[in-house]
Amino acid sequence: MNTVNDNVVADVNTTEQDRPLITLALSKGRIFEDTLPLLAEAGISVAESPESSRKLIFPTSDPYLRLLVVRASDVPTYVQYGAADIGIAGKDVLYEHGKEHPGGLYQPIDLDIAKCRLSVAVRRGFDYEAAVKQGARLRVATKYVNVAREHFARKGVYVDIIKLYGSMELAPLVGLADAILDVVSTGGTLRANDLVEVEDVWPVSSRLIVNQASLKTRAKYLQPLIDAFAKASQK
Ligand code: ATP
Ligand code: PRP
Ligand code: MG
Repeated sequence: MNTVNDNVVADVNTTEQDRPLITLALSKGRIFEDTLPLLAEAGISVAESPESSRKLIFPTSDPYLRLLVVRASDVPTYVQYGAADIGIAGKDVLYEHGKEHPGGLYQPIDLDIAKCRLSVAVRRGFDYEAAVKQGARLRVATKYVNVAREHFARKGVYVDIIKLYGSMELAPLVGLADAILDVVSTGGTLRANDLVEVEDVWPVSSRLIVNQASLKTRAKYLQPLIDAFAKASQK
């Protein structure tokens, strides 16, 4: 049932009793920080920060919009199952999610936030080109298993992929892997760990994602929000 959450709209005296509460899922940290200015452009503010609160649901100044703060890689799942109508996630996360769980998500807008790139990196001194030329079998540590499998298959390089969930930069330093495939932004983390980028795989930015059923049944309320994000992200 499309009922309005009483906690959030207790002070709203509306004649549209059946107006739905729209739920936006996003991760804390850089995506939340980069989303705040886009919401502000749409006239929406968030009083509390997930950085300083243990709450997971945040009301906004729009009584019909609330935020769910979840792990970055869980955002597509919340939106795909309709627990959130709309979400914000990196292209990296969306690609991996889409390979495992295709369908159900509409990606209308590149918000051009949380910009980085997916790259292959190795320990300084490791001759990656020579290893590739010799047809060596490489061990690659990554959280992006599908991107890695496809990237190295396209290059005709044999790889054993080791799935990690973070701090990929450590793997080549302790002999767990020959190379990593991870996101790079300033390159500071690679430099701090004496790694060098040897391949730029893709540019990455974060996208708005929308549950397809929500878009059909709640278009009247969702479309203005999508349009506001589109306008704000073009500034
Ligand atoms: P978790 O901490 O739950 O494992 P995560 O590390 O993917 O998730 P974030 O670091 O907040 O979470 O990254 C969210 C998204 O931001 C990534 O999917 C990617 O698109 C982008 N991103 C990741 N690292 C950077 C970075 N250093 N600079 C800019 N954007 C980044
Ligand atoms: C991300 C990513 C790299 C780093 C790259 O880590 O996994 O380690 O940023 O950014 P840079 O090129 O500007 O150094 P993050 O800060 O998200 O930490 P995490 O391990 O908690 O994901
Ligand atoms: Mg991260």
